[in-house]
Order: sequence, then structure tokens, then C-alpha cells
Amino acid sequence: SNAASAGTVTHPQWSSRLAFILAATGSAVGLGNIWKFPYITGENGGGAFVLVYLLCIFVVGLPILAAEVLLGRRSGCSPIQGMAQLARRDGVSARWGWVAWIGFVAAFVLLSFYSVVGGWSLAYVGLAAEGSFSGADAATIGGLFGQLLADPAALLLWHSLFMLLVVVIAGSGVRAGMERSIKLLMPLLFVLLLVLVGYAAVRGNFGQALDFLFTPDFSKLTTEGVLTALGHAFFTLSTGICVMMAYGSYLPKQVNIARTVVTIGVLDTLVALLAGLAIFPLVFANGLEPGAGPGLIFVTLPLAFGQMTGGVLFGTLFFVLLLVAAVTSAISMIEPVVEWLEDKGVGRMLGALLSGGTIWLLGVCTVLSFNIWADFHPLDFMARFEGKTLFDLFDFLVSNLALPLGGLAIALYAGWAMKAETLRDGIGLGQGAVFSLFRFVLRFLSPAAVLVVFVYNL
Ligand code: PHE
Ligand code: NA
Repeated sequence: SNAASAGTVTHPQWSSRLAFILAATGSAVGLGNIWKFPYITGENGGGAFVLVYLLCIFVVGLPILAAEVLLGRRSGCSPIQGMAQLARRDGVSARWGWVAWIGFVAAFVLLSFYSVVGGWSLAYVGLAAEGSFSGADAATIGGLFGQLLADPAALLLWHSLFMLLVVVIAGSGVRAGMERSIKLLMPLLFVLLLVLVGYAAVRGNFGQALDFLFTPDFSKLTTEGVLTALGHAFFTLSTGICVMMAYGSYLPKQVNIARTVVTIGVLDTLVALLAGLAIFPLVFANGLEPGAGPGLIFVTLPLAFGQMTGGVLFGTLFFVLLLVAAVTSAISMIEPVVEWLEDKGVGRMLGALLSGGTIWLLGVCTVLSFNIWADFHPLDFMARFEGKTLFDLFDFLVSNLALPLGGLAIALYAGWAMKAETLRDGIGLGQGAVFSLFRFVLRFLSPAAVLVVFVYNL
């Protein structure tokens, strides 16, 4: 039952479909849902962006996620070795191995800044527990976040602690423990989000938030916004980066991939929408700026915690759960790297330490980009990257370029390089029209969507 026990000769497997769903949902549900979705929705004007995002999830992201999991299960080993082996088995060019390398590099960069934001949640556990939000107004709460960002030593400390947590958990291969904690904490996060939505509905401006999130105003949507929505669909589903391929390599044969993937997609979308419904009523009721950027949840939710009864308890619990969600995602990012080293004979703990150390170092750039290097905008000479810090550029590189490109390659592989029978036998959609539609989407629709959005943006 322990999918990650080190040193076993045969490749271990998840104990059940539920175990895989838990781990994959743990990967999918993370900062992307609660931190990133609300703030990019705010920056991109709301409803129209949300609509495009939902379309991207269900039309582009989920089919590719299914294909990615299948590729992992067929290969049964780490993505780097696995893609090359699959290409050989499917009789196509070994160059397909590059798909995994895109994901490999993307995972390094992604985790390097994900860990810094994970560190913010760690810092906020402390702030919430101390009662720092009690009775505070919007300006005070905004000030707390500003102070945190301005302090490179504090950010570095939280970033280091977060990375340490990830390395220890990923390195010790306590997948069984992880399964158990996800099973317990994920529903708790869900309930707590519902409580927050309830609070926001009573005390915030719920009507305006509903209108903002669900009434599309296409005049607010830019082509860059569409790219961001597409990129975030990949980001939030953890797909296009070979992470789900690595997790899929532990998946038993009899599990129905299509059904599993839909479950993950629905849960992930629910959490993101709930986060939006908890945050925007407070944004509008307190006259805050929806487009305030990456600090959005850290300057809105504490307001609620500061005013509600039991706010210290709820606030602390919320940031603990956010931390857990972030850690279970971060562990999945490092998995392809650790699995790759493991396949090469490096022990799990050493592999996690080596990769974690490198990623931590890269994360220092993100730490500094919020303070000492805040005015360092290396790509200012290109109009579209003007004013972007290293953090902004890392995020753009991963979310808006690497993940859609990786996803495109996976769609092309599953749609064109793999035989229709192989795809049909693995994906679990039966033999009829639904499967044909799925294959059509993978062959034409998803690749076209990614290409069109790319072309419009370049
Ligand atoms: N899906 C995670 C989130 O929403 C982020 C992630 C991306 C995790 C890619 C793994 C791989 O927070
Ligand atoms: Na997500």
C-alpha cells in the first residue's frame, strides 16, 4: 500500500483508486485554487475570465490530464525514462522524450516560487494564532502583508521552512501518511471554505461578488487574459508538467482514468470557486481593489477573521489547511525529479535533498524580487514584460508557456503518436461516441486552442 517505499525493485502502486484520487487531488488543490485563482480573476476583470477558465479546464485541461495519467501508467516509471521508453514501444521518434524534459525544468522553476508563497501561508499561521487580525481595519491588515514582503530575512526563513517540510515528506516516502492526512484535511478545508462563504454572504457584498464572478463582460478580457486563463487551467490541474505522469506511474491497471480525472477536475474547480466566493464579497464590502495582485487573499480573509467570533481559531485553522494544501501540491512537483533520481539508483532522501536544495536556491530570487530586487525588471525592453519582476517572469514562464506547451505535446502524443486502440483500452471511455469525441478533442481541439492562444499572444 505504500506507493513510495524506497528501494523496492518492482515499481510500487497506489493502494486503490481512492488512494490515487486523494494524492492527485492533493496535487491539484493548492495555492492555485485559493491564492492564485482569485487574484488573477481580480486582475483580469472577473466573469469573462472565469468563463474562459472553466472552458479551458473542461475542454482542454481535463482531456490532457487524462492522457498524461495514461502515459504515466503505461510507462510505469519516471517521466524522463518513461517518455523515451514509450516512444520506442509506440514506434515513434525518441525526440518525444523532450516532453518530459520540459516538465522537469518547469517543475524546478515552479516549486522555487511556489515555496515562497507557501512560506507566506506559514507566516500567516503564526499571525492568525497570535490574534494579529483581531479588530484590525483594512489598512492595518494590508500593512502586515506589506511588512512581510519588505523583509527578505523573514521571507527567506519561511521559504526555507516550507522547502524543508517538502524535502522531509517527499524524501521519507510517507505516502501512506499523506493519503491519510489528505483524506482528513481536504474535507475540512472544504467545510471551512463553506463557512467563509457563509460569512462573506452575510457580512460582505455578496451580490456584487456574484455579479463580478459570473456576469461576463467581454470588454474586460484581453488576449493576455485568455492566455492566463488557459495557463491557469493547466496550473490548477497540475497538468502539462509530467507531475500527474509521475503519479500515474503508480496507478493500478484496473482504475478507470476518465472517471477519476473528472472527479479531480470537479473537486478542484469547486475549491477555486468557493475561494472566489469567500474573497470577493469582502473585497467589495471593504472598498479593496480586486486587481490588487498576489496579496489578495492575505489582505482580505484576515479582515473576516479579525471580525468574526472565533476568528483566531478559524483563521489559524484556515492558514494551516492552506499550508497543507500547498505542501501536498509541492510534494507532487518534486516527485518526477525524485523518481528520476530513484530510477538512477539515488535514494529517495538524498534525491529529495539534492533537488530541494537546488530549488531552494532558485527560490531566493523570488524572495528578493519582492523587496531588494523589486525594481529589477530584466525584460523591460519588451513591451509585454514591462514592469515584471523575476517572480512575475518565473510565473509567466511556467504557467503561461511551459505548462501549455507541455500539455500540447502530451495531447499530440496521445492523439497522434499512440494507436487509437491503445488510447481506447487505457482511458476508460468505452468504445463508442464518447471515446471518439475524446480522441477528436485530443487530436484537434486542444492543440488548436493552445496554438491559437499562443499565436494571438505573440
Ligand atoms: N495544481 C497546483 C495548485 O493549484 C499547482 C501544481 C501545478 C502542482 C503543477 C503540481 C504541478 O496549486
Ligand atoms: Na489547483
